Amino acid sequence: MASKEELLHMAKEAMEKAYAPYSHFKVGAALETEDGVIYQGCNIENASYGATNCAERTAIFKAVSEGHQRIKQIAIASVRKDETPPCGICLQVLSEFMSPEGYVILEHENKAKQYCLKDFLPKNFSLTE
Ligand code: THU
Repeated sequence: MASKEELLHMAKEAMEKAYAPYSHFKVGAALETEDGVIYQGCNIENASYGATNCAERTAIFKAVSEGHQRIKQIAIASVRKDETPPCGICLQVLSEFMSPEGYVILEHENKAKQYCLKDFLPKNFSLTE
């Protein structure tokens, strides 16, 4: 399993590829699947602002479209030095493919800090139960 420092480093690397000419807020994500494969993603903005895709969902959609549906951990980095938690839409999308105990790793005071998905999204929307 990748260390939280390694995964955060890969999120920062992904951030460099962000396409963010409108907000100038570059975001990168790196996730590790249950079977140990890493996918990176960046935010991809659009002149039609609502068509923008967040870094987290870019990485998640890359993983799922390559056949990896279970995510063990995800790290997120942005141009803001301190923590950049995933937005609500990304949390809901993450909850589809990651357990509430899965790790969300953010940069906190120059260190990699580990949270769980349930820290940010205690209850996800679900069609079952
Ligand atoms: N953004 C992400 O990539 N991830 C998030 O969780 C929140 C926001 C991006 C979208 C947009 O390109 C920029 O940050 C400013 O909202």
